Amino acid sequence: MLIKNKDSSFVPSSEITPKRVYVNRRTFLRNAGFAGAAAIGAGLLGRAAFPGEVRAGNPAAKIAGVQKSLLSTTGEKLNSLKDISSYNNYYEFSTDKYEPADLAKNFKTRPWTVTVDGLVKKPKTYDLDAILKMAAPEERVYRHRCVEGWSMVMPWIGFPISVLIQQADVLPKAKYVKFTTLLDEKQMPGTRRAVLDWPYTEGLRMDEAMHPLAIFTFGLYGEMLPNQNGAPLRITVPWKYGFKSGKAITKITFTDTQPSTAWNNAAPNEYGFYSNVNPQVNHPRWSQATERRLGEFLKRPTLMFNGYGDQVASLYNGMDLKKNF
Ligand code: MTE
Repeated sequence: MLIKNKDSSFVPSSEITPKRVYVNRRTFLRNAGFAGAAAIGAGLLGRAAFPGEVRAGNPAAKIAGVQKSLLSTTGEKLNSLKDISSYNNYYEFSTDKYEPADLAKNFKTRPWTVTVDGLVKKPKTYDLDAILKMAAPEERVYRHRCVEGWSMVMPWIGFPISVLIQQADVLPKAKYVKFTTLLDEKQMPGTRRAVLDWPYTEGLRMDEAMHPLAIFTFGLYGEMLPNQNGAPLRITVPWKYGFKSGKAITKITFTDTQPSTAWNNAAPNEYGFYSNVNPQVNHPRWSQATERRLGEFLKRPTLMFNGYGDQVASLYNGMDLKKNF
């Protein structure tokens, strides 16, 4: 399917978002100079340093100085913290969604380092706090659509991935970025079984990673991220199925070739590299046309690009998104 024309199931977010919210969003994007990728990092790098105190080992630590909902993109009712933190896909802990909350409760998120390597001028290993200080934290209310057919609306806290990319001095020939997440058999009982190729890996094209909606996430509902949601650092890419958003990131590698990813390795015919939310491309074993919002009884139609088409459709101009699913 070419994304050149709107078809009958393409619902721009302006049609499902209250006018007040999307007008504010457009104003914000315009004011922040988000027209081009280069402007993104430049605009955000100019901000004050991270003002929040991050207390080691205290997942309930409040994050200070969060800029509220600059890009609250949905206008929809939030799911509760309980929903969000008790129904989790986190295969390193368990394939049962109700288990990571308990199994991850003693997971050690400090000390933590993130290595940035591959096609960068100077590969470097950052202490987590250095990464958290790269930009002021922002609250982002995003829809989250799992490939399995359920969805939630979550108030994440983080900052654009582009901020780190700007600081990392990435070489021009880098076309993709690969995210590698922690593999620790002692702490993560699920990794003792070969359910996936561990460590869990994911990847984005550079322009996707530079998009202002793609964020590093380290908080939720005003506090540090619960372990089961990917503490201390995950990515969130709201127009893609949830599995593209890797949890517990330890390495970020810039490459010139499309990286292999855990789910694509496991079942290439079911999970493509792009994995944009697309109600027109069914999973081989089930339809993707509808989803069940947690806490609701009736299913709702799934929106192209999860409702973020206004912002991201142009990234895929001219691409056949049935082939590149
Ligand atoms: N990241 C890691 N490291 N391991 C995983 O198993 N599961 C993915 C994604 N990131 C996963 C992961 C899937 S399938 C989904 S739907 C989301 O995390 C779930 O995120 P949530 O628990 O915050 O809702």
